[in-house]
Amino acid sequence: MQILTGKEVAEKVYESLQSDCNVFVEKYGFPPTLAVILVGSDPASQSYVQGKKQACLSLGFGHRDYHLPSDTSQEALLELIHTLNEDSSVHGILVQMPLPAHLDADLVIQTIRVEKDVDGFHPQNVGNLLIGKPGFVSCTPLGVLQILDYYGISCSSKHVVILGRSNIVGKPMASLLMQKGRDATVTICHSKTEKLQQITKQADILIAAIGRPLYVTEAMVKEGCVVIDVGINRIEDASRKRGYRLVGDVDFEHVAPHCKAITPVPGGVGVMTIAMLMKNTMQAALQLAQKETQ
Ligand code: GUN
Repeated sequence: MQILTGKEVAEKVYESLQSDCNVFVEKYGFPPTLAVILVGSDPASQSYVQGKKQACLSLGFGHRDYHLPSDTSQEALLELIHTLNEDSSVHGILVQMPLPAHLDADLVIQTIRVEKDVDGFHPQNVGNLLIGKPGFVSCTPLGVLQILDYYGISCSSKHVVILGRSNIVGKPMASLLMQKGRDATVTICHSKTEKLQQITKQADILIAAIGRPLYVTEAMVKEGCVVIDVGINRIEDASRKRGYRLVGDVDFEHVAPHCKAITPVPGGVGVMTIAMLMKNTMQAALQLAQKETQ
């Protein structure tokens, strides 16, 4: 059984981004720059936003931090996005989700300029992915592909079963894997799926992205399958200083012995998401800078 270490893959991505960033700065005289907007003070969101800032700082990317109060109006948020859309020194714009309930997340996402939508959430980017055209793709599914490629795990003609139909992970993951060239046979399962175990047992590659701690048990996997665990769940643990620990959607301890390969939590897919965000920001900067100098 092989452990698919996201950390190792992320390090390779950062190495290559570091050199791309140096070349970019040399050529244009300014760094690729990401603007991150956080509304409110949800602790998990604050920690994700902090991680993104750290990644920017350590690569030498530019970083703009907008921490807005939880009662920020829709108009004020859209106004900020419009300003960043027009600012040629900003290449990527990310609005941390979830937003407080009084804000219209769909409208917020649609307001971000498609060329700066490094999250890949804009409907135009989502549509381009579905029809196999270039555009930004959601970072977590990109991270999963990067792990599979790094470890030489082909999806061609394999049955990939995805647990979860979210817009951020499940749906873009399925779109990527069914593309010509990836050639997987994809099944998406969700909360209304019947006979779930019969389906997951057929998976050559099982991708769990449902946000339920330790949901996937050994009874649900085929011997010799590859398991990718996208879940990051906090569960209470009095023995830890912070009072909780992180577990995936997969019961790693009992599932791992039956797998050909599996990602751990933490240290698996989670660390890839920010690495791919930086990669998307690099790409946005290159495309926008080339356009400006044309
Ligand atoms: N909230 C949880 N994951 C994400 C993500 O990838 N991007 C944004 N913007 N918000 C999130």
